[in-house]
Amino acid sequence: MSRRVVAHPILGDLIEEEVIEFEFEGLKLKALKSDTIASALISNGIDIFGFSESGKPKGFFCAIGKCSSCLVVVDGVPNVRACITPVRDGMRVERQKGKGKPVW
Ligand code: FES
Repeated sequence: MSRRVVAHPILGDLIEEEVIEFEFEGLKLKALKSDTIASALISNGIDIFGFSESGKPKGFFCAIGKCSSCLVVVDGVPNVRACITPVRDGMRVERQKGKGKPVW
């Protein structure tokens, strides 16, 4: 069952659009072209984006680019905010481990 929001009381019906493919931890996943990395992961049932220094799982928190809870590694580049970064076709996303500094 998809976790994607397809109808919203304020936004209305969300129109179907172009599907792209990206990679997360070696898995090939599908996303909508307008997705952020976070919305693409959530719609694929993935809530854990990384791990803290103590090994605790981290997901997204503020969802507006103001914290550092959603940091992931994108195409080898660490500290990318999944909640505000658009997903791209062919993008390679990995969980980030340990403390990171967000890229401003
Ligand atoms: S969830 Fe807070 S910056 Fe992404």
